[in-house]
Amino acid sequence: MKYLIFSDIHSNLDSLENLLSLKKANEVDKYLFLGDLVGYGANPNETIELFRTIKKLHYVRGNHDKVIAGLESSSLFNPVAAFSAEWSKIQISDDNQLFLKNAKRGPEIVDHFITICHGSTFDEDYYVFSMFEAVESFKFMETQVGFFGHTHFPIIYLLRNDKIDIVPLSNNTRIKLDPNTRYLINPGSVGQPRDKDPNPSFVVFDSTRKEINFMRYSYNVKKTQKKIREVGLPEILASRLESGI
Ligand SMILES: [Fe+2]
Repeated sequence: MKYLIFSDIHSNLDSLENLLSLKKANEVDKYLFLGDLVGYGANPNETIELFRTIKKLHYVRGNHDKVIAGLESSSLFNPVAAFSAEWSKIQISDDNQLFLKNAKRGPEIVDHFITICHGSTFDEDYYVFSMFEAVESFKFMETQVGFFGHTHFPIIYLLRNDKIDIVPLSNNTRIKLDPNTRYLINPGSVGQPRDKDPNPSFVVFDSTRKEINFMRYSYNVKKTQKKIREVGLPEILASRLESGI
């Protein structure tokens, strides 16, 4: 069975369209999304509508989805995130807002052996940025393999014999899973990469071959930036896309 794991689309319609048109993306059996479908970008409605057409999809909500669904206030967000969340809330249709409202809080266990969550396995809002935080997340994970998003930073944390390690991810990294090791994997972001590479990323997990493949692709960054500027969202949301920060 092949799974495509992707995260943090953030209303970036152009990037999501390109992802779904890739040959690799059409060869998988299931899609697993790790949250933050909306927020930051200029196309919240169109992005939700395209997302809703994906078949064989499992997903959890992200912190932006929760706020834009009206389930939580944007007061804890930084000013740019809060502005875009309030703007997105006004843009989205009632039906799309209901769709966000009904998105499940993670973690979710898919097919009895894969954990998916937004921030960490114990708190959807918690950022796993370091080995210390990854250890905490492993404690609450019931499966050998888990995927998380939220940081927009692609990385693999490994736990073996109580020792933690990391594997940096660059394009086409392929790793074979060891049966005695546990894995927490971040596929990076579809809509707003933050590892200094503007190309979005995702992971394909082949559970038969026990293999993880990390991949990047390109999309029309300029077109996406133009739309963000045209609707009057903060400039940083456009400029950061070309530097991947
Ligand atoms: Fe995010």
